Amino acid sequence: LILDGKSYSFPVTEGTEHEKAIDIAKLRDQTGYITIDSGYKNTGATKSAITFLDGEEGILRYRGYPIEQLAEQSSFIEVAYLLIYGKLPTTSELQEFSNQITKHTLVHEDVRKIFDGFPSAAHPMAILSSLICALTAFYPESVSPDLNKEEIDLNVIRLMAKLPTIAAWTYKNQMGHPLNYPRNDLDYASNFLYMMFSFPTEKYDIDPRIVSALNKLLILHADHEQNCSTSTVRLVGSANASLYGSVSAGINALWGPLHGGANQEVLEMLQAIQKDGGDTSKFIAKAKDKNDSFRLMGFGHRVYKNFDPRAKIIKKAADDVLSALGINDPLLKIAQELEQAALTDQYFIERKLYPNVDFYSGIIYRAIGIPTEMFTVMFALGRLPGWIAQWKEMRENKEPIGRPRQVYTGELERDYVGI
Ligand code: MLT
Repeated sequence: LILDGKSYSFPVTEGTEHEKAIDIAKLRDQTGYITIDSGYKNTGATKSAITFLDGEEGILRYRGYPIEQLAEQSSFIEVAYLLIYGKLPTTSELQEFSNQITKHTLVHEDVRKIFDGFPSAAHPMAILSSLICALTAFYPESVSPDLNKEEIDLNVIRLMAKLPTIAAWTYKNQMGHPLNYPRNDLDYASNFLYMMFSFPTEKYDIDPRIVSALNKLLILHADHEQNCSTSTVRLVGSANASLYGSVSAGINALWGPLHGGANQEVLEMLQAIQKDGGDTSKFIAKAKDKNDSFRLMGFGHRVYKNFDPRAKIIKKAADDVLSALGINDPLLKIAQELEQAALTDQYFIERKLYPNVDFYSGIIYRAIGIPTEMFTVMFALGRLPGWIAQWKEMRENKEPIGRPRQVYTGELERDYVGI
């Protein structure tokens, strides 16, 4: 078989439908070509009008708007509105959306009681996913096949409002610090930073440069079409599960190191290089040596065969934050050296191993004082509007309950003859 000038050897099956299906799956794996058969649960299976991604060209657009323009010119809440409702809000729509979110930032004190039961060693994502799921217990009417527009909107607002409160509490729990309740005079990103970093006895000055960097980071992570967590949210939601339960399932998917753990791995790699003496050229050589198991984390991306469009924006945000805050962190120096090597070394250029969004996001989070265990929580905070938009789209399209088709590969028939 010849596809796009490449030839593939592939046995033509003359067997059963079952055997043919296995061979088609093998062909797909060899060629990277997708099938539109939803049985295979790949990106070709989902029709969506939310995010456009072209990995070859390095293009990412939300509802048709280039990510570069949104990250430079809009706020996270504006982008959330765009993703969820399909259009940019007018000034009054944005004001109303923002006011509604502000009104719902508090969580029920009984949620607080559940929260108090978690050990301080609990991973922040364990608490976040549990408490977001628990919201269904407080809003049981959210499980219904016939939610009207107002009811869906209320769930959307509640979740957008309460998730940052719970997310900041997971950090406070880990630190053993007293909790902060939301401050409704602040914008979304500032309120989150306030809940994370302020103490009752101290005046907390919110640095606008950090707020701006956080806004960008959240926008860049707001949606990324079909991936593990997003398709989980759609699949769980397709059973008419509540928005809270569906997003909680997505949070668990994101917690998996293969999905949300990339920026944490970058930081751990930087720490390992530092511990070894900080010689980046040694690790660049190791990365090039195919007999060495060392892998450079945060370079290249599964879907981007070009520069990750999010990485360009976040690189600038990282440069701005580091120079504005005058941070002199040896780990960040190592990161800058690796980045330089990857952007100038022919080996990396030829293989398109550019630093990706995860390479820079961990650096910014570290610079603004967010510990590595909280990185996936930050990812969840950013991805929230995308998950909501995908859940809502799937409900509005009245998609049937998901039931991934299976290609059975086991024994066909066996006789039970006893032990
Ligand atoms: C994401 O932003 O969700 C990640 O890059 C993972 C992916 O899209 O496959």
